[in-house]
Amino acid sequence: MKNARISVCRDFIVGPVDRRLFGSFIEHLGRAVYGGIYEPEHPEADEQGFRRDVLNLVKNLNIPLVRYPGGNFVSGYRWEDGVGPRENRPRRAELAWRTIEPNWIGTNEFVDWAAKAGAEVMMAVNLGSRGMEEARSLVEYCNFPGGTHWSDLRQSHGWVKPHGIKLWCLGNEMDGPWQIGHKTADEYGRQACETAKAMKWAAPSIELVVCGSANKNMPTFASWEATVLEHTSEQVDYISLHAYYSNADNDIADFLARSLDMDAYIHAVAAACDYIQAKKKSRRQIHLSFDEWNVWYHSHGQDKKIAPWSIAPPQVEDVYTFADALLVGSLLITLLRHADRVKIACLAQLVNVIAPIMTVNGGTAWRQTIYYPFQHASSWGRGTVLQTLIDVPRYDSRHFTDVPGLDAVFVQSETGENMTLFAVNKELQDDMIMTASLNGLGNWRVMEHLVMANNQLDAVNSLDNPDRVTPRRISQAEADGDTLTARLPSLSWNVIRLAKT
Ligand code: AHR
Repeated sequence: MKNARISVCRDFIVGPVDRRLFGSFIEHLGRAVYGGIYEPEHPEADEQGFRRDVLNLVKNLNIPLVRYPGGNFVSGYRWEDGVGPRENRPRRAELAWRTIEPNWIGTNEFVDWAAKAGAEVMMAVNLGSRGMEEARSLVEYCNFPGGTHWSDLRQSHGWVKPHGIKLWCLGNEMDGPWQIGHKTADEYGRQACETAKAMKWAAPSIELVVCGSANKNMPTFASWEATVLEHTSEQVDYISLHAYYSNADNDIADFLARSLDMDAYIHAVAAACDYIQAKKKSRRQIHLSFDEWNVWYHSHGQDKKIAPWSIAPPQVEDVYTFADALLVGSLLITLLRHADRVKIACLAQLVNVIAPIMTVNGGTAWRQTIYYPFQHASSWGRGTVLQTLIDVPRYDSRHFTDVPGLDAVFVQSETGENMTLFAVNKELQDDMIMTASLNGLGNWRVMEHLVMANNQLDAVNSLDNPDRVTPRRISQAEADGDTLTARLPSLSWNVIRLAKT
């Protein structure tokens, strides 16, 4: 048995949680769109061809925001291909993922789907093969009420009211040599600056996300951020971060330590933003948009066997294990602990492609293991993040030292009447007795202790066994006034929900 001490205090807060921290992502990639959210022949299809069973699973995730249409895809995308009568839309050779894009779904249909899911769209523009003119035209098409060429075109396509898209990404991973139209930091920075100006002239209330590095291990990481922000920090509102984590070494202690990597990444990008702000003597603080994050490695081998140039092949379909759900839990805790700086985050992605939701074409849809921690955090991780101090035994792993055996964060609800502790016990053998002092926060009772624990780290949910890995309620938490005590099973995701007495 291990012991952990946690301390929170009414006066020490990280900050309010931006609801957009629980965003997700749908790219025209694999079966995310075709066979995922859209399958007109499916028995569950609605009048627009969207699968109702998938929509219901999405709605239960409480996602406020969905990034679209890519990803790598956007860097070769002609948005005009995806609007207007379907019979006139071209089939294109899609170079990012080497498939055929039929353009059955485009901007207008996707905006409708997102509205059905209760989410707003975070729209990415193509700064790879295209530029400012196409980007500002898309803003006009989407957001102008009417009376101009592009907004009249939207109306003629059947969407009379403007979409009012608030949040826009200036391209995707432009530092990556794999990107269509890859650029140096100066080339991209100049283009992003001029595009940002034109987009905001067309729609002054929009917010813009400029591309940071494709990940923290890129050779130009940090200098890319500094250079791009030199060009754009007075025009943009956020800079992007992307990270995918792997357990290819099959080393659970090291895998679960990867939340430290995300933590260091956030610190470094925030520092780059602050450096440029200080250098420019600016009052404008740039916030972070962690608009791609997840576990991704299971499907790498299988993807190499997929022949190019088909429509919606089963690409990037990771089947997630119980161990993956634990790391996703730790990553959510890390994002919450940085709620003062990370305002937007997108679990990448949402359906079939590295996703919490899987489907069979013509068949059922089910929840992967990672669905649950995301759903819990998205449901109860709203309000104010409390500075959560943790005193716990630490361990060293292959790539990390001083890894806390427990990741945890307290979030107080907006009304102040509820509080939730999210915690991952990373100890391989030991349960943990956790004692939390809730200083100055009043007296509490435990409403519910949900736990995901499993003696098989590689357990998965599947078509045949969709509920093998699910959370369950246990009674291992007690509140006595302002002290919470709980027993957290070894290798477990815990959600302890409290109500004020
Ligand atoms: O999410 C899958 C891909 O990962 C995205 O297209 C790209 O932006 C990232 O490299």
